[in-house]
Amino acid sequence: MINKLETLNTQDVLSMKGEGYYSKKTAGAKNAIDSIQKIMERSILSLPNREILRFADFGAADGGTSQQLWYNLINLIRSSGDGRVIEILYTDLASNDFSTLFKNMQGMRGEKGLAYQKIFDNVFVHGCGTGFHQQLLATDSLSLGFSATAMHYVSEKPCQIKNHVHMIGADIAEKRQFMAQAATDWESILLARAKELASGGRFVCMNFGIDEKGRYLGNTGGHSMFDKFNQHWRTHLDQGIITNEEYINTTFAQHYRTVDEFSAPFNDNSSKISKAGLKLLSCSTKLTKCPYREAYEKNIRSMSKKDFADSLIPTTRSWSETVFRTALLKRNENERDNIVDSFYENYRAEVERDPDGHAMDYVHIIMEIEKI
Ligand SMILES: C[S@@+](CC[C@H](N)C(=O)[O-])C[C@H]1O[C@@H](n2cnc3c(N)ncnc32)[C@H](O)[C@@H]1O
Repeated sequence: MINKLETLNTQDVLSMKGEGYYSKKTAGAKNAIDSIQKIMERSILSLPNREILRFADFGAADGGTSQQLWYNLINLIRSSGDGRVIEILYTDLASNDFSTLFKNMQGMRGEKGLAYQKIFDNVFVHGCGTGFHQQLLATDSLSLGFSATAMHYVSEKPCQIKNHVHMIGADIAEKRQFMAQAATDWESILLARAKELASGGRFVCMNFGIDEKGRYLGNTGGHSMFDKFNQHWRTHLDQGIITNEEYINTTFAQHYRTVDEFSAPFNDNSSKISKAGLKLLSCSTKLTKCPYREAYEKNIRSMSKKDFADSLIPTTRSWSETVFRTALLKRNENERDNIVDSFYENYRAEVERDPDGHAMDYVHIIMEIEKI
């Protein structure tokens, strides 16, 4: 019999929680995006003079976390007296909750004051449900591409990780396979953007990765969030709640690239990326503090340990839950709910018992790329 899991591709297993849950519970992702406003403004100012300003937000989820950024940029363009047509293409996987995204932009839900499609004239919002490893727009048509916290997802898992849930805890042989997959994917992503971008256009991306100090998401000095995921999932295994096959199948389809891995194609003049005309203008790393930890530390008198745990775990759950659920596909819905709920509850209870060292700080590698 074919194992049901073997028939799944990466696209089926990494969607964010829908109905606006994602952007509501990921204040940190929004803070990280807002922090690169100046880089985006700089890019806007240097764009080639074209009749239509065509923008794209690759891997946008429900669009809520980048809405303020796009609102501010469009406002800046209009305030400067530039009334040109603006087209903005939101891309994500076909499984994404595009309905919430379109409602956000039309002011039917979310932050109505940021519903720029309604607020400004001549702004057109489109959606695309094809993965960003392929070319998604006509050749030579994109003015400015943007992507936040999305390109760490690999197009396919090169292997399952046997003793951990994420590549950061994989053994050397497994890590190598993830690294090779991520290098192939990065090349596809960049070659696709090289085709789409008009000459003089820009692609600004901020991706999860490993910084110069070895830090990455949820691992910036205290407990490592991925080790905690692994610890609690393994406890489920040890207690017979999940099977060994389910444990092994729980492998995040993600790779955290280092700065060197991100920059490699640009540092080699003979690479396909350099030959396609892409040039790296800047590359930096950025740590964005976990807003839930910050709120707890600021309000230590009024916020209980339980309040902190109740706020931190949903932010980890908003993007990770599908991975755990998918590993349980052979079970019925009710069983899956119970297992996944108890897993996050155990993590939550640990944080409530002793909040020290628990946080989900973000670590991004920010790149400004130009098509020459
Ligand atoms: C963590 S969310 C980030 C959403 C938003 N950009 C932000 O920064 O808050 C990652 C998004 O990337 C999307 N994604 C993952 N792989 C993708 C692919 N190959 N093509 C398009 N989107 C993808 C996921 O579906 C998800 O919506």
